[in-house]
Amino acid sequence: MNPYYDKLLSAYESLREKTSFEPVTALVLGSGLGGYADEITVEDVVEYQDIDGFPVSTVPGHKGRFVFGYVKQTPVVVMQGRIHYYEGYDIHDVVLPIRLMKVLGAENLILTNAAGGIQEGMKPGDFMMIQDHITQFVPSPLVGPNVESLGERFPDMSQVYDPDIQKTMEQAASRLGIILKKGVYIQFTGPNFETPAEIRMAKALGASAVGMSTAVEAMAAKHMGMRIGGISVISNLASGISSNPLSHEEVQIAADEAAPYFKQLLTELIPML
Ligand code: HPA
Repeated sequence: MNPYYDKLLSAYESLREKTSFEPVTALVLGSGLGGYADEITVEDVVEYQDIDGFPVSTVPGHKGRFVFGYVKQTPVVVMQGRIHYYEGYDIHDVVLPIRLMKVLGAENLILTNAAGGIQEGMKPGDFMMIQDHITQFVPSPLVGPNVESLGERFPDMSQVYDPDIQKTMEQAASRLGIILKKGVYIQFTGPNFETPAEIRMAKALGASAVGMSTAVEAMAAKHMGMRIGGISVISNLASGISSNPLSHEEVQIAADEAAPYFKQLLTELIPML
C-alpha cells in the first residue's frame, strides 16, 4: 500500500463523518486573508484538529479549519489557514489538504497568499495574478511512491495556472476596477525572510513575487488535474528592495488593508469559474 494514499483516505473518511458537503471550488486563504471565510454562506465547519492524521497550522493569524458553504450559488470549501513547510511538516503533509479537497469533489482551486514584491513597480497592496511559479528551492510533494489514482508519475507543468481561469480573473478584476498585475511566484522554505542577495537571485531567475507557500500546493493540484488560479497580495517589498526590515506584522497589516478589494475580487470570480 502507499502510505500517502492511506493517510489521505483516512483523513477523507474522518472528514466524511463530519460533513457530506460536495464542493466544486476550493479556496486557500493566505496570511491575513482568512477573513474572506466570513463572506460565504456557511454550511459546515470542520477544524483541522478533528480530522485523523491532519497537520495542524501553528502560525499566528492562521485559523486551522475547513469552511464549507456557498459563494453566491457556488459550493466551495475554504481552507482558513494553510499548512506551511516551515512549520516542520513533511512536504507530503503540506499538500494533504489540497489532495483532500480534490477527493471531496473540488475541480477548481484558487490559491491566495501574501507575498513580497520583487518585480519593478510592485508596491504593497497590489494584486498579482500568478502566471507561473518556481518551486525548485522547496522539496517536491510528488517525490516518493506515486499515487496512480491521483495522477501520473511525470506530470506536465507547462501550464500550471489555468489559462481560462486567468482570463476570467482578469475579467473579474476589470469589472471591479481592480488593477491586476501579473507575474511569476517563487517559493522559498522560510520561515526566515530572504536576504537581499537571495532576492537578487530570485529576480535574475525571473521571479516577480516571493513567498513561503502556494507553489507546492499548485504542483500537487496540477498532478491531480485540478484547474488552478493563483493570486498574491503584495504585502511588502522584498528584502533589499525596501530599506525596511521585514516583519510578519507588516505582512498582516498590508493584507488587512487589501482585504475589502480581495473579497470583492473573489466573490466576483468564484461564480464565474
Ligand atoms: N518573503 C517571503 N515570504 C513573504 C514575504 C517576503 O518578503 N512577504 C510575505 N510573505
